[in-house]
Amino acid sequence: MTVGLGLEGKVAVITGAGGGIGRGIALEFAKAGTRVVINDIGVSLGGSGERSSAPAEETRAMIEEIGGQAVISSESVSEWHAARRTIEMAMDSFGQVDVVVNNAGILRDVIFHKMDPSDWEAVINVHLNGSFYMSRAAAEPFRAQGGGAFVHMTSTSGLIGNFGQANYSAAKLGIVGLSKSIALDMSRFGVRSNCVAPFAWSRMTSSIPATTPEEQARVERMKRMTPETNAPLVVFLASAAAEGVTGQVFAARLNELFLFNAMRPIRSVQSGGGWTPALIAERALPAFRAAFTPPERSGDVFSWDPI
Ligand SMILES: NC(=O)c1ccc[n+]([C@@H]2O[C@H](COP(=O)([O-])OP(=O)(O)OC[C@H]3O[C@@H](n4cnc5c(N)ncnc54)[C@H](O)[C@@H]3O)[C@@H](O)[C@H]2O)c1
Repeated sequence: MTVGLGLEGKVAVITGAGGGIGRGIALEFAKAGTRVVINDIGVSLGGSGERSSAPAEETRAMIEEIGGQAVISSESVSEWHAARRTIEMAMDSFGQVDVVVNNAGILRDVIFHKMDPSDWEAVINVHLNGSFYMSRAAAEPFRAQGGGAFVHMTSTSGLIGNFGQANYSAAKLGIVGLSKSIALDMSRFGVRSNCVAPFAWSRMTSSIPATTPEEQARVERMKRMTPETNAPLVVFLASAAAEGVTGQVFAARLNELFLFNAMRPIRSVQSGGGWTPALIAERALPAFRAAFTPPERSGDVFSWDPI
């Protein structure tokens, strides 16, 4: 059992905890003595098909095997009332809720010019709306008890970029804005909110097409990043040891941890008489161009092997 984190006897709701990264997080909380609500609807990667309670039950069995306590919520994060029922379940089962980890997710990767509204809406609903619904439901007990911690899973697909993921990237960057707003609005109640961009070989990343030898080699390297390697950072952020840490974006990549910067002006130009399009081209562009961020993919920036 991990001691000194102040998480013993606390209650964490972890969405999408039936597998992958969420299961690793649920187990790490259980090791810290935290009681866990395993929320998962057990759907396919694309979020469609039959729901199954088997993945969540497997996580619960793993938690019980190490002496932990867990209940299962099979409610979808992507519906307002269902998300509220998950938080109510935490309150009914354990009498409190101290941590919410917004981790549930689906993928509908399609090149932009072929992306349908249904691909867009499904991904926004689970990731962005789901994170809002869950956070908003938990905001009430957090406020009443004068404290709580949110950890939301973002992605370098949104923070940096990726092909064929306009829906996912928009949702994941939206989550960063949501987290920062929660951090600002709820600090008066002692509530903290942070984001983690995880790296893991899970069913989500195993869907990445790997056709060229270079892509196949990259996939082999990624397989070393097991889902549970992301969990210590998430549990730390939810713990008393992270007091004062709020509104930040971190990443975990095998044995490396990262702090991301935030959007701030990086160059400015001023014209006493105002600007015309031609003047912008003549004077502002040369000043800005040197500081442009290239349109890179996550893999261009994280180009080294996981170490
Ligand atoms: N795997 C990675 O490298 C990676 C990278 C960046 C971000 N992420 C993010 O980390 C999180 C976990 O990813 P993963 O790789 O473990 O994926 P995963 O597909 O293995 O797990 C996602 C879980 O969410 C559940 N889920 C889907 N829709 C749901 C809904 N409406 N309500 C409740 N549960 C639902 C699924 O049943 C599944 O068990 C996601 O938010 C993902 O976007 C993952």
